[in-house]
Amino acid sequence: MHKIVIRGGAALSGSVEISGSKNAALPLICAALLSTDEMTFHKIPVLRDIRTIKQLLLQLGVQLDDFTQGSLRIKAREIADHTAPYELVKTMRASVLVLGPLMAREGRADVSLPGGCAIGARPIDQHLKGLEAMGATIDLCEGYVQARSNRLKGTDFTFDLNTVTGTENLIMAASLAKGTTVLRNCAIEPEVAELAHVINRMGGSVHGAGTDTIVIEGRDRLNGIVHEVMPDRIEAGTYLLAGAITRGDVTVSQCEPAHLSSLLEKLDDAGLILDVEQRSIRIRSNGTVKSKDVDTDPYPGFATDFQAQYMALMALGDTRCRITERVFENRFMHVQELSRMGARIRVSGRTATVEGVTKLSGAHVQATDLRASACLIMAGLAAEGVTEVHRVYHLDRGYEFIEEKLSQIGADIRREKDDIV
Ligand code: EPU
Repeated sequence: MHKIVIRGGAALSGSVEISGSKNAALPLICAALLSTDEMTFHKIPVLRDIRTIKQLLLQLGVQLDDFTQGSLRIKAREIADHTAPYELVKTMRASVLVLGPLMAREGRADVSLPGGCAIGARPIDQHLKGLEAMGATIDLCEGYVQARSNRLKGTDFTFDLNTVTGTENLIMAASLAKGTTVLRNCAIEPEVAELAHVINRMGGSVHGAGTDTIVIEGRDRLNGIVHEVMPDRIEAGTYLLAGAITRGDVTVSQCEPAHLSSLLEKLDDAGLILDVEQRSIRIRSNGTVKSKDVDTDPYPGFATDFQAQYMALMALGDTRCRITERVFENRFMHVQELSRMGARIRVSGRTATVEGVTKLSGAHVQATDLRASACLIMAGLAAEGVTEVHRVYHLDRGYEFIEEKLSQIGADIRREKDDIV
């Protein structure tokens, strides 16, 4: 086990290149199961979640070749196994993304139920309801979803709520189904549109991704392609927030500013100075951060994946603000840890009231999930003294080379072996 040790106080300055998107890469890697041809992806980030999905594909009998860092060849000529086991699903909920492709291609999948996770109950009922509408039978047995079908059939299905991986699973399932599927009330996140774009390049027919209604014409087969994964909008936003909290001057490059509109609007309201170019964003501070309320929402709203990092910034805001988490029911575990660093935050239900303080102090803190880890690193960068962030394996799930990237822009940060577990 490792910990991250940060000596706070340095204003970050310089440029950070954004990596390929974790949440786009995960469904794309699973989409390789839809074809018997070879798929090649570039800009696959080096992350623990990516290692987990690769391990899962290997277990299904798929050939993988990491021929150079960040590039991955996948060939699912045959699928030998149909099980996503508990050990993998419990470490990464997105393992459930093999369900749609396995059902589409093989008509058979045994996927461990994700169960409760750190940020809420997170059921997969919508994924299952959608597959049932396409003709699958679903049984639950010893903690596993056992899905079976002959060839899936096109359907008209309306999601009861917005789900990103649910929408992705059903797009993949429908892309090899017989006939036309109409999905309504879909998630419109850019990662969903990226998946649709890739399936279309494979010879599929997915229309409307990026809007709430998606129409998919099932195909008999899909071809292999070469594709470069889109930039990680959450990583980009996290480095902008790190620039803001340290009163620095940071540019994120190789990103897609259009995917960050809600965050940029909020940072502008909070008094940060932003220069937005076609593929980069520079953020500077004029010294004061204005406290501004925020509600998280599905895209294009303010992403829940920024909530924790934004709270770290607001902990040093000029007055008081309210942060309401509307996507997940339990995503405030970082509050307790931020409080140990001197933040003044009160939680009532889904709303945290953050009273800005003039300084945070370094402390020992525990990372509880991926974005909470980023929030604590940011708080540590801005705090007086030394912060030690324990349980950083959460961080390694989703931020490629984070110590290197932060060091490059002036952070005093290092990884050490941890004796506290
Ligand atoms: N939900 C249900 N039933 C379902 C599916 C979802 O009730 O069948 C609920 C969830 O419990 C949650 C809400 O719907 O309250 C939204 O969940 P969603 O399914 O959209 O989340 P997800 O697909 O599991 C993805 C990202 C998350 C991100 C959320 C929200 C991936 C691999 N994960 O999760 O990313 O927070 O969308 O935008 O794309 C992260 O990267 O740190 C992360 C958690």
